[in-house]
Amino acid sequence: MSSFLVSPCNSLSGVIAIPGDKSISHRAIMLGSIANGVTKVSGFLEGNDSLATLKSFQQMGVDIERLGSNVTINGVGMHGLRAPGKPIDLGNSGTSMRLMAGLLSAQSFDSELCGDESLSKRPMDRIIEPLRQMGAKIEGHNSKPPLTISGNQPLRPITYELPVASAQIKSCLLLSGLYAEGETCIVENVTTRDHTERMLRGFGYQVNCSDNCITLDGGGELKACDIDIPSDISSAAFFMVAASIARDADLTLKAVNINPTRTGIIEILQLMGANITLSNESEMAGEMIADIQIRSADLKGIRIPNELVPLAIDEFPVLFIAASCADGETLLTGAKELRVKESDRIQVMADGLAVLGIKTEVLDDGIRIQGGQFTKPNTSIKSHHDHRISMSFAVASVACNFDIKIEGVDNVKTSFPNFVELANRIGININELH
Ligand code: S3P
Repeated sequence: MSSFLVSPCNSLSGVIAIPGDKSISHRAIMLGSIANGVTKVSGFLEGNDSLATLKSFQQMGVDIERLGSNVTINGVGMHGLRAPGKPIDLGNSGTSMRLMAGLLSAQSFDSELCGDESLSKRPMDRIIEPLRQMGAKIEGHNSKPPLTISGNQPLRPITYELPVASAQIKSCLLLSGLYAEGETCIVENVTTRDHTERMLRGFGYQVNCSDNCITLDGGGELKACDIDIPSDISSAAFFMVAASIARDADLTLKAVNINPTRTGIIEILQLMGANITLSNESEMAGEMIADIQIRSADLKGIRIPNELVPLAIDEFPVLFIAASCADGETLLTGAKELRVKESDRIQVMADGLAVLGIKTEVLDDGIRIQGGQFTKPNTSIKSHHDHRISMSFAVASVACNFDIKIEGVDNVKTSFPNFVELANRIGININELH
């Protein structure tokens, strides 16, 4: 089990490129694999989560070559996947499991999806239930992984209103809907990330979005295309907060994905008084990108608007660090989903902040954080093997005048493999202890 030993830093600066978007990397492999023709991907995230997706499609007979972040997928068409032969191990990756369950429910072969200790605790009833409504034969273990899926089940289209704001459920059902005869309709009352819809269109598949309904007709084909994946705003978020809370910072993050379903982090930080400017806005692979410049600012506590919660769902651990450094109280509600991520991110962050002397009140669906000064811990902080918790506490070092030890940081490489290198390049001081 590795740890970070993070030390204070005075200033933070540079112009850097963050690795490719994790959500888009997963989808590029999945759609490229079932497309007709060769899909060339650049900017693929070389993190363990997206690599788990890549390996599982290789296991199902897809010829995928990877040279660093360049990936060539020789698509096998909608019905060309082969039986995996043994359980597919998806490691820590909930996105792989939930999206692939939709795709595999429609195949002619049986499959089993499993994962690590954290993934094995995550709720799967949210996809099992609607997939069964479509006619899929899928079993969990008390509604958790491993999932066993029986092949050769004809799927029927459904209209399904998402009970929780989740792009993973939506995407799972859109993928199974590709194989159902007729129109699948997902009703989404709260907007969630729309990469699946955008990428399906990029592969020439018609997806209609009107009001809050996303519909597609099953039975079509995907045509291979080239995908240049932009930088992941969820990874950029760590450095956006670091630069905001640093005493002296001027940092630019190049070509970051600013898809409006992902920019909650920017909006929330700006409401807190952050100094963030966007420039060079353009389009890349059906997504909006921009350079993001962040300079130090005096942050103030806010009540986080509920409608921004799904648009920043992965960024709350690091936003809690920003709130700890802000003047006054920050209140988050409507974020119960944080309790079923790679860890219970409300409790685990509250516990870590308590070690650093920050007062919080844990709520069922959120947290109240009283901004203050980090005080010297007499114990180290436990990340609970959650990548985003590890990176968030590494960011806290920017506002500390003492060292912090963060335990169990191995999973940082699931989403941000060169986090330490980039962090150190801009002035953060992280030592990785093995
Ligand atoms: C993701 C959706 C989100 C997010 C996850 C990636 C995706 O999960 O937390 O990291 O790629 O669709 P939910 O849909 O469960 O909120």
